[in-house]
Amino acid sequence: MTNSASLANPASCAGLVIVESFADFQNHRPPFRLGILLSGRGSNFLAIAESIRAGRLKGAEIAVVISNVAEAAGLAKARELGLETAVLVSKGRKREEHDADVIACLRAHGVELVCLAGYMRLLSKQFVAAFPNRILNIHPSLLPAFPGLDAQEQAFNYGVKVTGCTVHFVDEELDHGAIVVQRAIPVLETDDAHSLADRILVEEHQAYTEAIARVVSAEYEVRGRRYVKTGNEGTREQGSKKAQGSGI
Ligand code: GRF
Repeated sequence: MTNSASLANPASCAGLVIVESFADFQNHRPPFRLGILLSGRGSNFLAIAESIRAGRLKGAEIAVVISNVAEAAGLAKARELGLETAVLVSKGRKREEHDADVIACLRAHGVELVCLAGYMRLLSKQFVAAFPNRILNIHPSLLPAFPGLDAQEQAFNYGVKVTGCTVHFVDEELDHGAIVVQRAIPVLETDDAHSLADRILVEEHQAYTEAIARVVSAEYEVRGRRYVKTGNEGTREQGSKKAQGSGI
């Protein structure tokens, strides 16, 4: 461990990779490059960005934020943060053609993990196949309950007593792929659909960071529909191959 002392305080090494210990030095990998896709306000994107900034989500960086809606508030916030952004308007375009442009943009930015964060557009088969088991989505219900639009209102109107959010891999079916993280909350007597949605959103912001951290760790396998923690760190490539049958 003689090297650890010289590596333990690297603050003076401006411009060099910052490591905190010899173990970190040995394990150092370039940050996992995230591509964020959004269509609206972008609060989940901002939560991910803040987790990275605050050091809660280590080993990941946002490579690009792409929106299919030019006026999306989340896009403006990404620009304010100085992140790479791209607008690829989807309105009036064939899904496959638009998706081909999005895939090209993600590849041009070296994206390894695509994070759908309020991206209001179904993905084509080609898109899912281009990033096998490397697309995450967040949904505001405990899947498989209440897939589709207005999930919080669906849950409230159904009268469930517990609901929450789900982060899952994306496959070719809507809100369907293997589940990485779920967080549950009670429905309160005092709730209406809006207050319930607000409280679910708080959970979403934590769940997405947790799910990305799990993928970045590569310490998992997907067995059938089940995401299973293995405790063994795999390679990035293994993480992708292991996650069979997962997806939106
Ligand atoms: C969230 O409720 C998310 O679960 C759903 O779309 C909404 C996006 O919100 N998929 P925001 O744009 O991240 O604030």
